[in-house]
Amino acid sequence: MLNWDEYGKDENSSPPVVSEPKTEVVDQTTEVKQPEPPQPAESAVSIEPSNIGEGSRAEAARKAVNSLDETAGNEELDEMMANAGRVQVDQKMMINCKADLNQLVPFKYDWAWQKYLDGSANHWMPQEINMTNDIVLWKSEDGLTEDERVIVKRNLGFFSTADSLVANNLVLALYRLITNPECRQYILRQSLEEAIHTHAYQYCIESLGMDEGEIFNMYREVPCVARKASWGLKYTQEISDPDFKTGTIETDKQLLKNLIAFYCVLEGIFFYCGFTQILSMGRRNKMTGTAEQFQYILRDESMHVNFGIDVINQIKIENPHLWDDQMKADAAQMILEGTELEIQYARDTMPRGVLGMNASMMEEYLKFIANRRLTQLGLDEEFTGVSNPFPWMSEIIDLRKEKNFFETRVTEYQVGGALNWE
Ligand SMILES: [Fe+2]
Ligand SMILES: [Fe+2]
Repeated sequence: MLNWDEYGKDENSSPPVVSEPKTEVVDQTTEVKQPEPPQPAESAVSIEPSNIGEGSRAEAARKAVNSLDETAGNEELDEMMANAGRVQVDQKMMINCKADLNQLVPFKYDWAWQKYLDGSANHWMPQEINMTNDIVLWKSEDGLTEDERVIVKRNLGFFSTADSLVANNLVLALYRLITNPECRQYILRQSLEEAIHTHAYQYCIESLGMDEGEIFNMYREVPCVARKASWGLKYTQEISDPDFKTGTIETDKQLLKNLIAFYCVLEGIFFYCGFTQILSMGRRNKMTGTAEQFQYILRDESMHVNFGIDVINQIKIENPHLWDDQMKADAAQMILEGTELEIQYARDTMPRGVLGMNASMMEEYLKFIANRRLTQLGLDEEFTGVSNPFPWMSEIIDLRKEKNFFETRVTEYQVGGALNWE
């Protein structure tokens, strides 16, 4: 552990440097120059050179600081600066906001700030989870059936890429286009969580000694994985262009579609077959370390989905003209396309019954999830007569956390809190 006493030790661990004032040998025959009393600075930015010898780089830096223009960099924020001053709550908007985005408070969207706090209280790291039993099971000849091994590999293959796609979309597209500081604060938190998820998959892949090239290339080489990845990428291409701007009906709708694609479909549907399969394995006492990693990830993901749905619904409230019949039809179509792709993924990863489930049960579950995503956006359910064949999944996710933002207040999380299967 580091302590301040060690500060200043050199690389060879020589005794600590004692920072006593430097004493110089002064020739007593010469006149000793008394230090001059401090002079008031001419201005805050006028920095006079001291008597310390300096090189040309320090001199150049001092000159640059002395001539600093405090208004530099604001040109591109002209519009925003025209509204400079203390931000009022009613100036805040989810998209196309002209108020200063560097003023976090006063909050308009308390739910976004609350999610940032809840996400921070959930912090965890992949190395905290013991993978020993998984390594023994994975490496033993008869530890898992071939169908179970396919499930582990396919899901690590899909998720290791999907979380990266989500993170790229957040950082390269959404962060810039969501013009509200408390939501941006959550997007930053979510971005960190996506990095931790990618780390978790890498940690599993490495611990189990898998072929990393095979796993990380599944999104290009295995059709049922590739289709899901390319479906998501389609919605990020245009809005991640640095020249893309919102502000017209067409571009605002493009952003709305991106939010639906990533929050409602990628994180809200594409993750559900894989999560159910891996968590089912954990409940059967197989690959419990991997399953625990997925359980922590699922806890984060359910909050990501809630946040995204809250953002979408807030944009609808502030921009009702965007939520026209065409947009409603497009949103439903996107959710149903995602459902169809996930059903295909379920069939591909479960050609036979495995882990107490099969592709038909998963299809019903995905239709149940699709109905929920539709209603969360205020759209009609599509599938009648479906129920949840995996009620234990709902207990893990805790449906109370999937309600809309007017009702959700999560208070029970603790940093490093242990997870229980029941
Ligand atoms: Fe994630
Ligand atoms: Fe996520």
